[in-house]
Amino acid sequence: MSEFQFNYSLLSYNTFGVSVRASAFVLANNVADLRRVLMKTTLPVIILGGGSNILLTKDLNALVIKNNILGKSIVEETDDYAIIEAGAGENWHELVLWSIGKGLGGLENLSLIPGLVGAAPIQNIGAYGIELKDVFVKLEAVGLATGKTVTFKKEDCQFAYRDSIFKRNLKGKYCITKVYLRLSKNPKINIAYGAIQSTLKQMGVKNPSPRDVSNAVITIRSSKLPDPAILNNSGSFFKNPEIDRTTFEELRKQFPDVVFYESPNDRIKIPAGWLIEQCGWKGKRVGNVGCHTEQALVLVNYGGASGQELLSHAQNVANSVKEKFGIELTPEVNVY
Ligand code: EPU
Repeated sequence: MSEFQFNYSLLSYNTFGVSVRASAFVLANNVADLRRVLMKTTLPVIILGGGSNILLTKDLNALVIKNNILGKSIVEETDDYAIIEAGAGENWHELVLWSIGKGLGGLENLSLIPGLVGAAPIQNIGAYGIELKDVFVKLEAVGLATGKTVTFKKEDCQFAYRDSIFKRNLKGKYCITKVYLRLSKNPKINIAYGAIQSTLKQMGVKNPSPRDVSNAVITIRSSKLPDPAILNNSGSFFKNPEIDRTTFEELRKQFPDVVFYESPNDRIKIPAGWLIEQCGWKGKRVGNVGCHTEQALVLVNYGGASGQELLSHAQNVANSVKEKFGIELTPEVNVY
């Protein structure tokens, strides 16, 4: 177990690049470490993964445990599929590349998503027509109050769009330690998303393999989404809102060009990026913060912004969307 650090700067542990401190900080390299740390502390506990989906608005009066539980392997295999097991502290994109290298398909559309494996089920990460739930089998997690390991099967996780039980009833109650995914040896490629098709065409690929799709996704993401190592950000800041059909038809009368997607249960999803751009925020900088030039849904820290500055920018953006369209935006990132 690594040592406890006190009054510890989290600057390099959040991709928004916000400078706040945690009263205590420790790395957990395995489950035994994690249990020891949980038993020792009297502080509230916050589990940190890659820090790519959080906005820190104040110093944390808490013990921040950085999940560093590693390891990845194939644990079950048939002619058709393999079940892989991955430590929650593994880098998500490296896991994607590793699985593709093993000839397994299923994760290629989720290439280049920042963050660690343990955060993937919390958010039910998704991109280009695939969500984690499509390949998810089960996970193991340690109860922060009990120190006991519990297994959560897919149905226990209550996955929904960028949502799971770990963002609702069980928020802050568990540390995910291991994730199991079922990947295919005869992959069904999903290239329904238009930009993937056009990128594959540009690449001259006719019968795409998972690696080709991964390369296409990497190209698309790199062109639209800023690399947090270069420009601090946390990916999409808000979820794409869903509205009912009647509200949508009213909206379309007023804004005939509205971009939309059909969702289950007669709901309509409107891209938040479109709503934000229509309000004039795309590429607009206010002090140290702004909405990205290529993707308005991504809030960026141009350097030195505080979490409060980012939060108040997000509130201004959400207020103007509410005023113009009557639609409420809710953050996708976790705000502390
Ligand atoms: N759009 C605009 N202006 C913008 C941005 C988007 O008009 O500035 C419109 C365009 O019509 C565009 C549409 O919105 O075609 C959708 O944009 P995009 O394809 O970039 O996807 P998104 O809905 O904004 C979602 C996810 C992303 C994921 C992409 C691709 C959410 C909140 N975000 O973004 O996930 O990569 O789809 O599947 O669902 C993340 O979660 O951090 C993330 C980046």
